[in-house]
Amino acid sequence: MEKKLQTCLASIREKTDFKPEVALILGSGLGDYADGIQIETTVDYTEIEGFPVSTVTGHKGRFVFGNVGDVPVVIMQGRVHYYEGYPMSDVVLPTRLMGLLGAKKLLLTNAAGGINENFRPGDFMMLTDHIATGVPSPLIGPNLDDLGPRFPDMSEVYSHRIQDVIRNAASECEIDLKEGVYVQLTGPNYETPAEVRMCKIWGGDAVGMSTACEAMAARHMGMEIGGISCITNLAAGISKEKLDHKEVQETADRVSKDFKRLVTKIIET
Ligand code: HPA
Repeated sequence: MEKKLQTCLASIREKTDFKPEVALILGSGLGDYADGIQIETTVDYTEIEGFPVSTVTGHKGRFVFGNVGDVPVVIMQGRVHYYEGYPMSDVVLPTRLMGLLGAKKLLLTNAAGGINENFRPGDFMMLTDHIATGVPSPLIGPNLDDLGPRFPDMSEVYSHRIQDVIRNAASECEIDLKEGVYVQLTGPNYETPAEVRMCKIWGGDAVGMSTACEAMAARHMGMEIGGISCITNLAAGISKEKLDHKEVQETADRVSKDFKRLVTKIIET
């Protein structure tokens, strides 16, 4: 196993022997979900030797270990983004760690700009697939053979079984769930209208700066994945408005109650 991964894993294992079943990564503005669960223990990223620490506002940096219903979960409250300047191997290190801690399933969440004309700010979009050609693959470099194969299959990144779970959970929560393809670009700048048109021609429904890389690393290790975007704004050119991180935060705040209900229902199922 990669040295850094080994060091981080040992560092966490010194602090807790908690064995999660589900891993959850919280996106921009959705971070306070972790405060509401039955917390067993937390580990700040700064306490983990060699761990990449995030800088963007609105992202707390810690692992929260606890239970949602009777499901043991590990939550990444605040993720690491490629645009912060970390190599991709660091960006996906926390995801790999959660897998190594025992999580077999991963629920990825993010804030994203809506490309699909049927989407409105505040909508939730379940990821049916992604396009990650706008960022380098996190699997570039020597293959981590003990995690997975050199050329991993990506034909079902977002598990059809979990997609059904998410659809049913949304329906039980009476949430009008949208579905679509997520495009990851590097950021940190928002897209130009021409780039958004390109994403649309590619087949994208939403655009953001995270998630697909983590999904690739998780799929590489055989984790079963689900994904949800909070459409915090319409992407550049789809709306005439200029984009502002404040709007992203405000929309995420506005829908955070529904988000919590939905995520809890998904995990409990
Ligand atoms: N583009 C990219 N990332 C985003 C957006 C967007 O419009 N909204 C929230 N994250």
